[in-house]
Amino acid sequence: MPVEERFQDKSSVFGVVGLGYVGLPLAVEMGKAGYRVLGMDVDESKVDEVNAGRSYIPDVPTEELAELVGERLVSATADFSRASECDAVVICVPTPLDEMKEPDTSFMESAAREIAPYLKPGVLVTLESTTYPGTTEEIVQPILEAGGLKVGTDLHLAFSPERVDPGNPVYQTKNTPKVVGGVTPECTATAVAFYGSFLDTIVPVSSTRAAEMTKLLENIFRCVNIALMNELLIVSERMGINIWEVVDAAKTKPFGFMPFYPGPGLGGHCIPIDPFYLSWKARQFDLHTEFIELAGKTNEAMPYYVVKRLMEALNTHRKPLAGSKILMLGVAYKANIDDMRESPAIKIAELLLDAEADLVYHDPFVPTFCIRGNPVTPIELTEDAIAGCDAVLVVTDHRNIDYHLIWRSSKLILDTRNALKEFDGDKVFRL
Ligand SMILES: NC(=O)c1ccc[n+]([C@@H]2O[C@H](COP(=O)([O-])OP(=O)(O)OC[C@H]3O[C@@H](n4cnc5c(N)ncnc54)[C@H](O)[C@@H]3O)[C@@H](O)[C@H]2O)c1
Repeated sequence: MPVEERFQDKSSVFGVVGLGYVGLPLAVEMGKAGYRVLGMDVDESKVDEVNAGRSYIPDVPTEELAELVGERLVSATADFSRASECDAVVICVPTPLDEMKEPDTSFMESAAREIAPYLKPGVLVTLESTTYPGTTEEIVQPILEAGGLKVGTDLHLAFSPERVDPGNPVYQTKNTPKVVGGVTPECTATAVAFYGSFLDTIVPVSSTRAAEMTKLLENIFRCVNIALMNELLIVSERMGINIWEVVDAAKTKPFGFMPFYPGPGLGGHCIPIDPFYLSWKARQFDLHTEFIELAGKTNEAMPYYVVKRLMEALNTHRKPLAGSKILMLGVAYKANIDDMRESPAIKIAELLLDAEADLVYHDPFVPTFCIRGNPVTPIELTEDAIAGCDAVLVVTDHRNIDYHLIWRSSKLILDTRNALKEFDGDKVFRL
């Protein structure tokens, strides 16, 4: 059968290994296109939730998942031998850094090991986890081939970076162009046919390394530009210039400028982590990625800068941070989502507790917030509760917050996101 006709037949079965923020939306997209999808995860609670048709990912509506589960298009299992049913398998498991800030590829390795013995001849395997150039061929390929199939003859292998942007109302899995690079040209063609069967736009590149590097370029671009804004923020503050006003003005330039914003520090599973995958790999080539290191250093300093600015703001009220009641407003790593991974709120809260501040928080998306195993007290946003705090620290600019109430009721505000851009006065401090 010509490669481009593969997967046209809706009897194809697609597997997704890792049913998290990336894997579950992908599985649902495949199901919506009419394919039978088998999700595989080591986390039995996720398997049970999927099989009960209940979504735990905000971008996936429960009704949508429930309908696909009801039609028997989407199901999940912790039994990896069922990879034998699949014509294509996508791996989207975590790629964190270890304690030494070095790539932790153990999840990818175990996922590949779990499916390898069960893959059927002709199957396509794609890796979507963000990682350094070389991973697909140096790590995943040998593990899969140990299962008996050879890449290029009876197994197709490709890398295709995930670009999901949680909470983005316009670009979601289906309409975000998908880059793919295979080990051989036929692997690429097979991956193009696969993704083209349920996504709008596919962008083939010449190799797995080019595809791996594409994802890192995208994330490093963001990391470095955010660091640049954080540096300019500190300079502007010293000079008495409002950086937020400057970015708004600069972005009226219709060409050659793209706005990035300063903030309390990086968060999420991608931007604070992925650039260091490249730094680590570059060292094997006797190269040092200085922009990435500098950006990392600048961004990591931001939570400390936030606490320093909070101390200075409290100082104007003749209050020390120790003993002051601080309301942290928003703790998720970005607006309008529940994801706490690498959130700068965690570091800021640790610093505030170390300084003996009396910390409470409010986040409509995050019902519990623990620091070093101890829960931080959540509060409702009432006039009295806000007025009872010495300062409000806006860390995440969720949209469903009554910022007028915050402004009206608070004694002092440090806004790290320009969420109170419409409000002014002596009590409003901005990063
Ligand atoms: N979340 C994002 O916004 C985003 C965006 C682009 C790329 N990525 C990349 O995609 C990858 C996955 O990220 P995520 O956010 O979906 O992670 P996640 O933690 O939400 O989900 C990963 C899932 O993999 C499962 N898992 C772990 N080890 C496994 C194994 N050996 N076998 C089967 N399942 C296993 C976990 O139980 C979990 O359900 C990462 O490499 C990440 O960098 C994430």
